[in-house]
Amino acid sequence: MNKLRSVGIIGTGSALPEKIVTNADLEKIVDTTDEWIVSRTGIKERRFADENTATSDLAYDAALKAMEAANVVAEDIDLIIVATVTPDMAFPATACILQDRLDAKNAAAFDLEAACSGFLYGVAVGQQFITTGVYNKVLVIGAETLSKIIDFEDRTTCVLFGDGAGAVVLGEVEEGKGILSIDLGAQGSGGKYLTVPAGGSRKPTTIETVQNREHFIYMGGGEVFKFAVRIMGQAAAAVIEKAGLELEDVDYLVPHQANNRIIEAAAKRIKIPMDKVKVNLDKYGNMSAASVPIALDEAIRDGNVKEGDNIILVGFGGGLTWGATLIKW
Ligand code: UT7
Repeated sequence: MNKLRSVGIIGTGSALPEKIVTNADLEKIVDTTDEWIVSRTGIKERRFADENTATSDLAYDAALKAMEAANVVAEDIDLIIVATVTPDMAFPATACILQDRLDAKNAAAFDLEAACSGFLYGVAVGQQFITTGVYNKVLVIGAETLSKIIDFEDRTTCVLFGDGAGAVVLGEVEEGKGILSIDLGAQGSGGKYLTVPAGGSRKPTTIETVQNREHFIYMGGGEVFKFAVRIMGQAAAAVIEKAGLELEDVDYLVPHQANNRIIEAAAKRIKIPMDKVKVNLDKYGNMSAASVPIALDEAIRDGNVKEGDNIILVGFGGGLTWGATLIKW
């Protein structure tokens, strides 16, 4: 077998809907307060897509920006992976809709579902194709329109989520740079704590499932919170060890944006000060698979990540799942 190639992120991009929904706006819909949402989560506002915007529309805008940043054209893309829990429809895959719209004639395309960890799973899958020499350029996108599956009668969830898309192009990089390690995992026994129960083969859509509001997100927030606090620190520590590095070698952390308290616990576990941790959930809420790539894109464009930095991307979510990667930029 030929030598494995080093793989890195060679371009990033993101897209957000224009409509801003503040905590004050939500106070008018459910029994909540800005004070509760900010103190329990850190979220101040989020973006919602309009009725004519689907997940592939946001994914398309993010993909174009990532391709421009990577200096590649559509024909260069060998594979498109879209991580989402809010595909345009059950099938065809949102990745195929995007492949057509981008006119990426040479690309295979599929969706990947690992909820909020989906983007990190996608990066891990894309890396395998490039490191072995099967493909040269892979587009990985985390894209969501969660506003379309939020239950606006459930104050425990409807204040948490937002819409957006983040994209990266993976390609071969100089030896010693790029993805140094990966840690993925699942704990399926916790699946019931974060789910859209109906609309699949277990519980097909009926008038009753609609009336029972079973096509919306249900979350056992407390259980997910406990899992997240444990797993974020654990996964971050795992990629440091797998890369043969020490805690003090980490320059920047890009965590999944679900809750400030979860992010702070993860940062504490790997002893990284909060000024080296990307936080943007105050502006966008939790965008599931889109949170990590959007946070990464902002960190790159704001100059928070320098060449040679060791950065960790880490997330957790429905499944339950988790994912982390350590990248030398
Ligand atoms: O991306 C992965 C997906 N999700 C997550 O990562 C979320 C993980 N979980 C969390 O972030 C937190 O568990 C939440 C933010 C969801 C909830 O925070 P919490 O501190 O665990 O609150 P809680 O669920 O224990 O609720 C405390 C109280 C309850 O009232 P009682 O029973 O004490 O009277 C809730 O009914 O707060 C109440 N409450 C609210 N009050 C005002 C719950 N939601 C709201 C709300 N506004 N929106």
